[in-house]
Amino acid sequence: MIKYMKGKYKIVTFGCQMNVHESEKAAGLLEEMGYAPTESAEDADVVLFNTCCIRDTAEKRAFGNIGALKSLKRSRSGMLIIVLGCMTEQDGYTELFKSKYPFVDIVLGTRNLSVLRAKIEEKVRAGKRVFDTAVPENFLEADENTPVTRTSYPNAWLNIMYGCNNFCSYCIVPYVRGREVSRDIESILSEAREVVAAGYKEITLLGQNVNSYNGNGVNFAELLQKIDQIEGKFRIRFMTSHPKDFNEEIAAVMAASSKICNGIHLPVQAGSNAVLKSMNRRYTREKYLSLVDMMREKLGEGVGITTDIMVGFPGETDADFNDTMELVRTVRFSNAFTFIYSPRKGTPAASMPQIPYEVKRARIGELIKLQNAITKELSDAYMGKIEEILIEDLSAKYDGSVCGRTESGRLVTVKGEKDLIGSFKTVEITASKSASLFGEILL
Ligand code: 5AD
Ligand code: SF4
Repeated sequence: MIKYMKGKYKIVTFGCQMNVHESEKAAGLLEEMGYAPTESAEDADVVLFNTCCIRDTAEKRAFGNIGALKSLKRSRSGMLIIVLGCMTEQDGYTELFKSKYPFVDIVLGTRNLSVLRAKIEEKVRAGKRVFDTAVPENFLEADENTPVTRTSYPNAWLNIMYGCNNFCSYCIVPYVRGREVSRDIESILSEAREVVAAGYKEITLLGQNVNSYNGNGVNFAELLQKIDQIEGKFRIRFMTSHPKDFNEEIAAVMAASSKICNGIHLPVQAGSNAVLKSMNRRYTREKYLSLVDMMREKLGEGVGITTDIMVGFPGETDADFNDTMELVRTVRFSNAFTFIYSPRKGTPAASMPQIPYEVKRARIGELIKLQNAITKELSDAYMGKIEEILIEDLSAKYDGSVCGRTESGRLVTVKGEKDLIGSFKTVEITASKSASLFGEILL
C-alpha cells in the first residue's frame, strides 16, 4: 500500500443535492486517506470536480472551472486533478478528457466513488492517467461502506435510491446515472438513526424519483413512516417527487406525521398536455392540478409546493406556453425553478425541431415575472404569522443574522449568531421582501 504525504484537498461541486451528497462521500474517502480540506486550489494536492450535465449551462460552468486549473497544474505538477460525476458518463466524454484535457489525471463516473482511493493509488504508483466509468458490480454494497464527511449540518442528506427509469425525453439523467436501484431499507434506517443520534436536526431523503422507492416490497410511504418512528426531534424532507408516482398514501403519511415537513418539490415541467406528452412525463395537466388539490385538502392550504418548469421545449407553441402560465396562476407555487430547455445529446428531444433562443428568452422572462409576483404576494401573506423554523446557517446577506426554514420551506432571516445553528426557534414574521421573510425570535 502506498504511503501518502498528508496533503490537502478541495472539492468543487456542480449541480443537484445528489451531487452535493456525493461530494460529501468523496470528502469522506479523501479524509480517510489522510487529506485535509482547504478552500483554495493553490494549496490543494487534490482538486476534485464533481460535475453535472443536466443543462448546457451546468456543463459549460464545469468545463470553465476545470480549464481554469490548467496553468496552476503546470506550476504544480504533483497536484492531482480529478473529474467525477454525470458529465464524464456522456458518450465520447472520456475521449474528450483524454485528448483535450491532458492536465486532468483521473476521470470517474457517477457510480465509481468506491474506487476513488484505488484509482488515486494507481495514478500515484504508475504515473499513468486513469479513466474509469464502468459500473462496479457491487455498486450498492460498496456505496454502503463509503465514509461520509457531512458538510450541511443541521441537515443530513440521505440517499434512498440511485438512477432513474423514466426517460423524460429531454433528460440525460437515465443515460448517465443508469437504471433505478433502491437502497436496502435497513441500511437507510440505520443511517437515519445514526445521523439523529449524532445531532442532525433534518434528514433529506434523496433520489431522482423518491416516490418509486421499492426496498424489497417496502414502498416510499412505508419508508417515510418507518423514518418518522425514529425517536427525537428532527425534520424529514425528501426530493425529488414525480407527479405520476406521488399519491394519496404518501400525502396521508405526511399529514399524520409531525416530523415530515409540510412541503413538497413536485416538478410540473409544463402546463400543456401536448408538451407533457412529448416530454414523456406520463401525466396530464388535469392530473397535476388534482394532485395539488388533494395535497391542499390533506395537508392544509399552508403546504409549500415548489416546482421545476421548463420553457422552450421543442414544439412548444404560444398556446402551450400560455397553458404553463395559466397553470402557474392557478397553482400559485411557493417557489418555481425555471429553466430554458437545452438539448442534451442522445436524448429524443435533442433531435426534435428546436425553438429559436429569442423565443425561449422572452418566455422565461414572462414566467419569472409572473412567479416573482406570486412569490411576493405569498410572502406578504406570512406577515404576523408565528412559525417554527430550524436555524440552518449564518445569513449570507445580513450581518449578525442567521436564517432558517419554516416547515413549508420558506427562508426566514432573524437576528442571531452562529451558536443558534441547529436549533428550532419560534418566530414571528415581521417583514417580507420578495422571496425572503424576516422575523423575530419569540422563544
Ligand atoms: N434542459 C433544461 N432543463 C432541464 N432539466 C432537465 N433536463 C433539462 C434540459 N435538457 C430541468 C428539469 C428538471 C431539473 C432538475 O432540470 O426541470 O426537473
Ligand atoms: Fe430526468 Fe425525468 Fe428521471 Fe427526473 S424523472 S431524472 S427529469 S428522466
